[in-house]
Amino acid sequence: MIERRIRPPAEDLALAFDRAAFCRALGMEPDRWQKRLLRSEAPRVLLNCCRQSGKSTTSAVLALHQALYVPGSLSLVLAPSERQSKELFTKISGFYKSLGHAVPSDSNRKLGMEIANGSRIEALPGSEKTIRGFSGVSLLLVDEAARVDDGLYHAVRPMLAVSGGRLVLMSTPFGKRGVFFEEWTNGASWDRYEAPATECPRISTEFLEEERRSLGPWWFAQEYECRFMETNDQVFSHDVVDEAITTEVAPLFAAVREEGGR
Ligand SMILES: Nc1ncnc2c1ncn2[C@@H]1O[C@H](COP(=O)(O)OP(=O)(O)OP(=O)(O)O)[C@@H](O)[C@H]1O
Ligand SMILES: [Mg+2]
Repeated sequence: MIERRIRPPAEDLALAFDRAAFCRALGMEPDRWQKRLLRSEAPRVLLNCCRQSGKSTTSAVLALHQALYVPGSLSLVLAPSERQSKELFTKISGFYKSLGHAVPSDSNRKLGMEIANGSRIEALPGSEKTIRGFSGVSLLLVDEAARVDDGLYHAVRPMLAVSGGRLVLMSTPFGKRGVFFEEWTNGASWDRYEAPATECPRISTEFLEEERRSLGPWWFAQEYECRFMETNDQVFSHDVVDEAITTEVAPLFAAVREEGGR
Protein backbone atom coordinates (compact mmCIF):
# COMPACT_ATOMS: atom_id res chain seq x y z
CA MET A 1 0.00 0.00 0.00
CA ILE A 2 1.44 3.40 -0.96
CA GLU A 3 0.71 6.18 1.51
CA ARG A 4 1.27 9.83 0.70
CA ARG A 5 2.69 11.76 3.61
CA ILE A 6 1.55 15.34 3.22
CA ARG A 7 3.07 17.01 6.25
CA PRO A 8 6.63 17.98 7.14
CA PRO A 9 7.89 16.00 10.16
CA ALA A 10 7.78 18.94 12.62
CA GLU A 11 4.14 19.67 11.85
CA ASP A 12 3.30 15.99 12.01
CA LEU A 13 4.94 15.80 15.43
CA ALA A 14 2.81 18.70 16.65
CA LEU A 15 -0.32 16.84 15.52
CA ALA A 16 0.89 13.69 17.23
CA PHE A 17 0.99 15.53 20.56
CA ASP A 18 -2.16 17.61 20.17
CA ARG A 19 -5.35 15.88 19.08
CA ALA A 20 -7.20 19.21 18.96
CA ALA A 21 -4.68 20.44 16.37
CA PHE A 22 -5.12 17.12 14.55
CA CYS A 23 -8.88 17.75 14.52
CA ARG A 24 -8.25 21.19 12.95
CA ALA A 25 -5.99 19.58 10.37
CA LEU A 26 -9.00 17.44 9.44
CA GLY A 27 -10.92 20.65 8.75
CA MET A 28 -12.93 20.91 11.96
CA GLU A 29 -12.62 23.42 14.79
CA PRO A 30 -13.49 21.40 17.92
CA ASP A 31 -16.21 22.70 20.27
CA ARG A 32 -15.21 23.40 23.88
CA TRP A 33 -16.09 19.95 25.24
CA GLN A 34 -14.59 18.30 22.18
CA LYS A 35 -11.32 20.16 22.73
CA ARG A 36 -11.18 19.09 26.37
CA LEU A 37 -11.89 15.50 25.36
CA LEU A 38 -9.30 15.51 22.58
CA ARG A 39 -6.67 16.75 25.01
CA SER A 40 -7.60 14.37 27.80
CA GLU A 41 -5.49 11.32 28.59
CA ALA A 42 -8.02 9.89 31.07
CA PRO A 43 -8.28 6.12 30.74
CA ARG A 44 -12.06 6.07 31.40
CA VAL A 45 -14.31 8.63 29.74
CA LEU A 46 -18.08 9.19 29.74
CA LEU A 47 -19.75 11.51 27.24
CA ASN A 48 -23.35 12.42 27.98
CA CYS A 49 -24.11 14.56 24.96
CA CYS A 50 -27.24 15.64 23.11
CA ARG A 51 -28.22 14.50 19.64
CA GLN A 52 -26.04 15.82 16.85
CA SER A 53 -23.48 17.33 19.21
CA GLY A 54 -20.62 15.54 17.48
CA LYS A 55 -20.10 12.38 19.56
CA SER A 56 -19.48 10.09 16.61
CA THR A 57 -17.36 12.62 14.75
CA THR A 58 -15.11 13.27 17.75
CA SER A 59 -14.73 9.56 18.41
CA ALA A 60 -13.73 9.11 14.75
CA VAL A 61 -11.00 11.72 15.30
CA LEU A 62 -9.80 9.87 18.43
CA ALA A 63 -9.68 6.53 16.61
CA LEU A 64 -7.80 7.88 13.61
CA HIS A 65 -5.30 9.75 15.77
CA GLN A 66 -4.58 6.61 17.76
CA ALA A 67 -4.06 4.56 14.60
CA LEU A 68 -1.77 7.08 12.93
CA TYR A 69 0.38 8.01 15.90
CA VAL A 70 0.55 4.80 17.91
CA PRO A 71 2.00 2.29 15.44
CA GLY A 72 0.69 -1.22 15.75
CA SER A 73 -2.27 -0.16 17.91
CA LEU A 74 -5.73 -1.68 17.75
CA SER A 75 -8.79 0.56 18.14
CA LEU A 76 -12.27 -0.89 18.38
CA VAL A 77 -15.37 1.14 17.73
CA LEU A 78 -18.64 -0.41 18.87
CA ALA A 79 -22.15 0.74 18.09
CA PRO A 80 -25.48 -0.97 18.77
CA SER A 81 -26.18 -1.80 15.11
CA GLU A 82 -24.35 -2.60 11.88
CA ARG A 83 -25.72 0.60 10.31
CA GLN A 84 -24.32 2.79 13.09
CA SER A 85 -20.94 1.02 12.99
CA LYS A 86 -20.82 1.57 9.26
CA GLU A 87 -21.65 5.25 9.62
CA LEU A 88 -18.84 5.68 12.13
CA PHE A 89 -16.35 3.78 10.04
CA THR A 90 -17.24 5.93 7.02
CA LYS A 91 -16.40 9.02 9.08
CA ILE A 92 -13.01 7.54 10.05
CA SER A 93 -12.10 6.48 6.53
CA GLY A 94 -13.32 9.84 5.18
CA PHE A 95 -10.97 11.68 7.54
CA TYR A 96 -8.14 9.33 6.60
CA LYS A 97 -8.75 10.03 2.92
CA SER A 98 -8.86 13.78 3.54
CA LEU A 99 -5.27 13.55 4.80
CA GLY A 100 -4.21 12.24 1.41
CA HIS A 101 -4.08 8.54 2.29
CA ALA A 102 -5.50 5.77 0.18
CA VAL A 103 -8.22 3.79 1.97
CA PRO A 104 -7.79 0.02 1.43
CA SER A 105 -10.43 -1.02 -1.10
CA ASP A 106 -12.14 -3.70 0.98
CA SER A 107 -12.25 -1.61 4.18
CA ASN A 108 -15.83 -0.40 3.79
CA ARG A 109 -17.11 -3.93 3.36
CA LYS A 110 -15.14 -5.14 6.38
CA LEU A 111 -15.78 -1.96 8.41
CA GLY A 112 -12.14 -1.99 9.32
CA MET A 113 -8.70 -1.19 8.00
CA GLU A 114 -5.07 -1.82 8.67
CA ILE A 115 -2.70 1.01 7.79
CA ALA A 116 0.98 0.96 6.81
CA ASN A 117 2.30 1.39 10.38
CA GLY A 118 0.52 -1.81 11.42
CA SER A 119 -2.33 -0.09 13.30
CA ARG A 120 -5.85 -1.39 12.92
CA ILE A 121 -9.27 0.14 13.35
CA GLU A 122 -12.28 -2.14 13.53
CA ALA A 123 -15.88 -0.95 13.72
CA LEU A 124 -18.28 -3.58 15.05
CA PRO A 125 -21.94 -3.90 15.83
CA GLY A 126 -22.05 -4.04 19.61
CA SER A 127 -22.71 -7.52 20.80
CA GLU A 128 -20.69 -9.86 22.94
CA LYS A 129 -20.21 -12.15 19.94
CA THR A 130 -18.49 -9.53 17.78
CA ILE A 131 -15.89 -8.50 20.34
CA ARG A 132 -14.82 -11.96 21.41
CA GLY A 133 -11.40 -12.83 20.03
CA PHE A 134 -9.94 -9.32 20.16
CA SER A 135 -7.03 -8.69 22.45
CA GLY A 136 -4.47 -5.94 22.93
CA VAL A 137 -7.09 -3.24 22.41
CA SER A 138 -5.57 0.18 23.13
CA LEU A 139 -8.71 2.25 22.50
CA LEU A 140 -12.30 1.11 22.83
CA LEU A 141 -15.02 3.55 21.80
CA VAL A 142 -18.65 2.67 22.47
CA ASP A 143 -21.09 4.85 20.53
CA GLU A 144 -24.74 5.13 21.70
CA ALA A 145 -23.57 3.36 24.86
CA ALA A 146 -26.98 3.72 26.55
CA ARG A 147 -28.39 1.38 23.92
CA VAL A 148 -25.78 -1.39 23.94
CA ASP A 149 -26.28 -4.49 26.02
CA ASP A 150 -25.02 -4.47 29.60
CA GLY A 151 -23.58 -7.92 28.81
CA LEU A 152 -21.26 -6.31 26.29
CA TYR A 153 -19.92 -3.90 28.86
CA HIS A 154 -19.15 -6.69 31.26
CA ALA A 155 -17.45 -8.61 28.46
CA VAL A 156 -15.17 -5.73 27.40
CA ARG A 157 -13.93 -4.55 30.79
CA PRO A 158 -11.65 -7.56 31.46
CA MET A 159 -10.23 -7.20 27.97
CA LEU A 160 -9.05 -3.68 28.83
CA ALA A 161 -7.60 -4.76 32.16
CA VAL A 162 -5.04 -6.87 30.34
CA SER A 163 -4.13 -4.36 27.60
CA GLY A 164 -4.32 -1.26 29.83
CA GLY A 165 -6.42 0.31 27.05
CA ARG A 166 -8.66 3.33 27.14
CA LEU A 167 -12.46 3.14 27.30
CA VAL A 168 -14.77 5.89 26.05
CA LEU A 169 -18.53 5.47 26.46
CA MET A 170 -20.60 8.06 24.61
CA SER A 171 -24.33 8.48 24.37
CA THR A 172 -27.45 10.54 24.48
CA PRO A 173 -29.34 9.34 27.61
CA PHE A 174 -31.88 6.54 27.20
CA GLY A 175 -33.82 6.19 30.43
CA LYS A 176 -32.70 5.55 34.00
CA ARG A 177 -31.37 2.09 33.28
CA GLY A 178 -28.34 0.24 32.07
CA VAL A 179 -24.63 0.58 32.53
CA PHE A 180 -24.29 4.00 30.93
CA PHE A 181 -26.81 5.50 33.35
CA GLU A 182 -25.33 3.67 36.34
CA GLU A 183 -21.77 4.72 35.54
CA TRP A 184 -22.78 8.31 34.85
CA THR A 185 -24.67 8.47 38.14
CA ASN A 186 -22.49 6.44 40.50
CA GLY A 187 -19.36 5.26 38.72
CA ALA A 188 -15.94 6.11 40.13
CA SER A 189 -12.86 7.25 38.19
CA TRP A 190 -14.60 8.55 35.06
CA ASP A 191 -13.71 11.73 33.24
CA ARG A 192 -17.22 13.10 32.51
CA TYR A 193 -18.43 15.41 29.74
CA GLU A 194 -21.91 16.85 29.33
CA ALA A 195 -22.95 18.69 26.17
CA PRO A 196 -26.55 19.96 26.06
CA ALA A 197 -27.90 21.37 22.80
CA THR A 198 -27.83 24.96 24.08
CA GLU A 199 -24.02 24.68 24.08
CA CYS A 200 -23.77 23.37 20.53
CA PRO A 201 -22.95 26.24 18.16
CA ARG A 202 -24.53 24.43 15.21
CA ILE A 203 -27.99 24.02 16.77
CA SER A 204 -30.13 27.16 16.64
CA THR A 205 -32.52 28.36 19.33
CA GLU A 206 -35.33 28.37 16.73
CA PHE A 207 -34.69 24.73 15.88
CA LEU A 208 -34.72 23.78 19.56
CA GLU A 209 -38.02 25.57 20.17
CA GLU A 210 -39.55 23.74 17.23
CA GLU A 211 -38.25 20.43 18.59
CA ARG A 212 -39.59 21.18 22.07
CA ARG A 213 -43.05 21.81 20.60
CA SER A 214 -43.09 18.74 18.40
CA LEU A 215 -41.38 16.22 20.74
CA GLY A 216 -42.89 17.37 24.02
CA PRO A 217 -40.94 17.97 27.27
CA TRP A 218 -40.11 14.31 28.05
CA TRP A 219 -38.38 13.54 24.76
CA PHE A 220 -36.88 17.00 24.51
CA ALA A 221 -35.20 16.64 27.92
CA GLN A 222 -33.73 13.28 26.92
CA GLU A 223 -32.61 14.14 23.41
CA TYR A 224 -31.40 17.71 23.88
CA GLU A 225 -30.86 18.36 27.60
CA CYS A 226 -28.75 15.30 28.52
CA ARG A 227 -31.32 14.20 31.11
CA PHE A 228 -31.95 10.61 32.10
CA MET A 229 -35.73 10.30 32.19
CA GLU A 230 -37.90 7.70 33.87
CA THR A 231 -38.89 5.18 31.24
CA ASN A 232 -42.50 5.58 30.09
CA ASP A 233 -43.46 2.03 31.04
CA GLN A 234 -41.79 2.08 34.47
CA VAL A 235 -44.26 1.34 37.29
CA PHE A 236 -41.98 2.52 40.12
CA SER A 237 -39.62 5.45 39.69
CA HIS A 238 -35.86 4.85 39.89
CA ASP A 239 -35.66 6.86 43.13
CA VAL A 240 -38.46 4.83 44.76
CA VAL A 241 -36.67 1.57 43.88
CA ASP A 242 -33.36 2.99 45.16
CA GLU A 243 -34.91 4.02 48.46
CA ALA A 244 -36.46 0.58 48.92
CA ILE A 245 -33.04 -1.11 48.82
CA THR A 246 -31.25 -1.53 52.13
CA THR A 247 -28.02 -3.22 53.13
CA GLU A 248 -29.38 -3.89 56.64
CA VAL A 249 -31.36 -6.96 55.56
CA ALA A 250 -29.59 -10.03 54.18
CA PRO A 251 -31.00 -11.18 50.82
CA LEU A 252 -33.43 -14.06 51.47
CA PHE A 253 -32.61 -16.10 48.38
CA ALA A 254 -28.84 -15.73 48.75
CA ALA A 255 -29.14 -17.32 52.22
CA VAL A 256 -31.29 -20.16 50.87
CA ARG A 257 -28.83 -20.76 48.03
CA GLU A 258 -25.86 -20.82 50.39
CA GLU A 259 -27.57 -23.35 52.64
CA GLY A 260 -28.57 -25.47 49.64
CA GLY A 261 -24.96 -25.47 48.41
CA ARG A 262 -23.52 -26.81 51.69
N1 LIG B 1 -16.70 20.76 15.90
C1 LIG B 1 -17.46 20.61 14.83
N2 LIG B 1 -17.40 21.51 13.81
C2 LIG B 1 -18.18 21.37 12.71
N3 LIG B 1 -19.06 20.38 12.53
C3 LIG B 1 -19.16 19.47 13.51
C4 LIG B 1 -18.37 19.54 14.72
N4 LIG B 1 -18.72 18.49 15.50
C5 LIG B 1 -19.67 17.80 14.83
N5 LIG B 1 -19.94 18.39 13.64
C6 LIG B 1 -20.93 17.96 12.63
O1 LIG B 1 -22.18 17.82 13.31
C7 LIG B 1 -22.94 16.77 12.72
C8 LIG B 1 -23.33 15.78 13.80
O2 LIG B 1 -22.16 15.11 14.25
P1 LIG B 1 -22.22 13.62 14.78
O3 LIG B 1 -22.94 12.74 13.83
O4 LIG B 1 -20.84 13.27 15.15
O5 LIG B 1 -23.10 13.86 16.07
P2 LIG B 1 -23.70 12.77 17.08
O6 LIG B 1 -23.67 13.42 18.41
O7 LIG B 1 -22.99 11.49 16.92
O8 LIG B 1 -25.19 12.70 16.53
P3 LIG B 1 -26.29 11.55 16.81
O9 LIG B 1 -26.78 11.78 18.19
O10 LIG B 1 -27.33 11.80 15.78
O11 LIG B 1 -25.60 10.22 16.65
C9 LIG B 1 -22.07 16.16 11.63
O12 LIG B 1 -22.43 16.73 10.40
C10 LIG B 1 -20.65 16.59 12.02
O13 LIG B 1 -19.81 16.69 10.92
MG1 LIG C 1 -23.69 9.55 16.50
